[in-house]
Amino acid sequence: MIMTTEYILSEVKNGVLVITINRPDKLNSLNRQTIEELHEVLVDAENESEIKAVIITGAGQKAFVAGADIAEFANYSVEQGRQLSSNGHFKIFNFIENYSKPIIAAVNGFALGGGLELAMACHIRVVSDNAKMGLPEVSLGVIPGYGGTQRLAQLVGKGKAFEMIVTADMITATDAYKWGLANYVTTQEEILNKCFEITSKIASKSPTAIKTAIKVINAGYNNSVNGYEVEIEEFGKSFGTGDFKEGVSAFLEKRKADFKGN
Ligand code: COA
Repeated sequence: MIMTTEYILSEVKNGVLVITINRPDKLNSLNRQTIEELHEVLVDAENESEIKAVIITGAGQKAFVAGADIAEFANYSVEQGRQLSSNGHFKIFNFIENYSKPIIAAVNGFALGGGLELAMACHIRVVSDNAKMGLPEVSLGVIPGYGGTQRLAQLVGKGKAFEMIVTADMITATDAYKWGLANYVTTQEEILNKCFEITSKIASKSPTAIKTAIKVINAGYNNSVNGYEVEIEEFGKSFGTGDFKEGVSAFLEKRKADFKGN
């Protein structure tokens, strides 16, 4: 059962879990409780077979997520800072990147610091034309600690990532699209519809194959494994799944596949 909690609104629509980070008076910044609640909702949704994809967005018209909660970490020690980063990676950022179902960030406004890092951990980003994105941490005397130093370069290339991180500049939705940070740019009104257009395609495909594809794509960014080797193994394993039997039979019988995710 998907729960709505203090800072997280959850709604399942046509097999898609829409998560809204709901702290608009603090521009949806991520405090410890929000991170815990988001983690719990995602854990629950992973076990619900009728949920085929997830959309994450921010409450209100102004922000997706304006970063980690600065007030909360203002007096942290070195060890607490390390813990903040490590807990975030484990509960949200790496967790989302390696999630078994596609997660789309609907970036409906400011995505700064941890907010951009959250969007970048998601598999796909749809950005509204009012959005501003950046990693402003060096303005605060810290560095991005939720994967930003790694994932920004993967998406926009090392040169632009260096520029964005060391200048702390925000970029527009148009620039984000140009640099590969945004898959699509829409109006704020259309952003969820665009996400649903993408999730409706995902929902008709094999959940088993999609889960494997996410794992193998991510393997290519993991220095401790050879992505090509992982692909060979996982490609082979897919021939043993129910979804493979169903997908191929449906094609040969000229009918629509009815995937069971097995
Ligand atoms: N952490 C905690 N609170 C935050 C926050 C954050 N990352 N971002 C915004 N807020 C709070 C503000 O403190 C303010 O709270 P208040 O009304 O109780 O004073 C409220 O959200 C509204 O923000 P405000 O700054 O008044 O809005 P603005 O339109 O003037 O500016 C931003 C918008 C996004 C440019 C500005 O809020 C900002 O720079 N935020 C911090 C971004 C950042 O550095 N993130 C990285 C963190 S590591």
